[in-house]
Amino acid sequence: MASHSEPIPGFADLFPAECQEWRTVEEAARQVFASYAYGELRTPILERSEVFLHSLGNETDVVQKEMYAFEDRGGRHLALRPEGTAGVMRALANLGVVDGEEHRVYYLGPMFRGERPAAGRRRQFHQIGVECVGRVSPGHDVECLAMLLHFLDSIGITQRTLLLNTRGTAEDREPARLALRDYFAGHLAALCPDCQRRHETNVWRILDCKVPTCQPIIVAAPDTAALLGQPSRDYFAQVCAGLDALGIPYQVEKRLVRGLDYYCHTVFEVIAEGLGAQNTLAGGGRYEIQPPGGKRSLAGVGFAAGVERLLLVRAHLGCQTPPARLVSCYLVSLGAAAQAHQVRLAQTLRQAGIPVMLDLEGRGMKAQMKAANRCQARYALILGDNELTAGQMLVRDLDSGVQQTLPLTGVLEWAKAGYPAPVA
Ligand code: HAM
Repeated sequence: MASHSEPIPGFADLFPAECQEWRTVEEAARQVFASYAYGELRTPILERSEVFLHSLGNETDVVQKEMYAFEDRGGRHLALRPEGTAGVMRALANLGVVDGEEHRVYYLGPMFRGERPAAGRRRQFHQIGVECVGRVSPGHDVECLAMLLHFLDSIGITQRTLLLNTRGTAEDREPARLALRDYFAGHLAALCPDCQRRHETNVWRILDCKVPTCQPIIVAAPDTAALLGQPSRDYFAQVCAGLDALGIPYQVEKRLVRGLDYYCHTVFEVIAEGLGAQNTLAGGGRYEIQPPGGKRSLAGVGFAAGVERLLLVRAHLGCQTPPARLVSCYLVSLGAAAQAHQVRLAQTLRQAGIPVMLDLEGRGMKAQMKAANRCQARYALILGDNELTAGQMLVRDLDSGVQQTLPLTGVLEWAKAGYPAPVA
């Protein structure tokens, strides 16, 4: 039985060593996105449920099965955000943004979906996402994809595959929808109960079904991209040409429709090894969303990558950054006067940005050296009455065992100079 101190299944505690790796990825994202003129947007984690119901689509798994939705004490229908795009669009609509006005935003943060936890699948997971809102052109889609791959390169994920497809516009995809309805009508009895319902409510969602018995039927379904109208096919051809011009490899994946209803035109996913069954690292595409209360829909293109999955792939590829030391110097003191000095020195070093730890309890030398090793300090700066009288500090390199003495007044300079070793 799970202990009461464990987080609930699908949720996780992240300790300092892991957080360093998270920050590497987050900082790379911020840097890359800034070079494409994206600014950060932080939206609330809790939203009115309608923000998601309407944008993501009532028939999607996220809305039907996975959203943490509840009524609060005031009878309001609220939901923990299962993804970032709908909240971003609500925020932009609230700002009074109108279509045609370009806005480029990125976000980092937790999302919540009540899925069965597995490797790379959490109930609280974290997305790094971007939305380029307001303009519709194949060039924007290409630039967004180029930025995603640039970001993946910057964190060492160079082995990955970009899958690409088009959903066309709502008008242009009507013949494809009818073809799917006709086709699946002939296989209704063999489809799972969910797909039988989807056949009535939103036939596209059948293409996302993961139930094994539905797979042979889905594989043989009509090629929807080929049934789209000419404007949608031209748009897609221009996206492909733009990627070719930048030398970006991709695979056209005819079954890719993505699990959310707001997409039109370009849809894409990046898959990579190291994720087991959850091989999708990032997904996105072009969309049109009419936020609740908004008068008109806003168009955009964007993507989100799961941080947990980025980290799994980085581990698989062996490109994790070695954990940095949290502490460079441990200040050891013997006696009250030495301890008072070390407390002042610690403050001076910390104010100069040098990470230090020290004994605050007047423990013995052995206990303090043990503590220095436990916090993986590189140097022990040892001060007793004798050193204090001589105006010196004994510095021991805990990796090499080499010792040197420094004048008490020279410790800050030594640390700022990058801890030079004694001259032999
Ligand atoms: P999504 O495909 O639902 O798209 O999620 C994007 C990424 O979030 C996935 O590729 C995966 O890496 C990660 N992810 C999703 N669910 C989980 C989970 N349960 N555990 C761990 N990671 C997960 C969206 O959310 C869209 N809003 C993307 C987008 C932005 N489209 C346009 N703009």
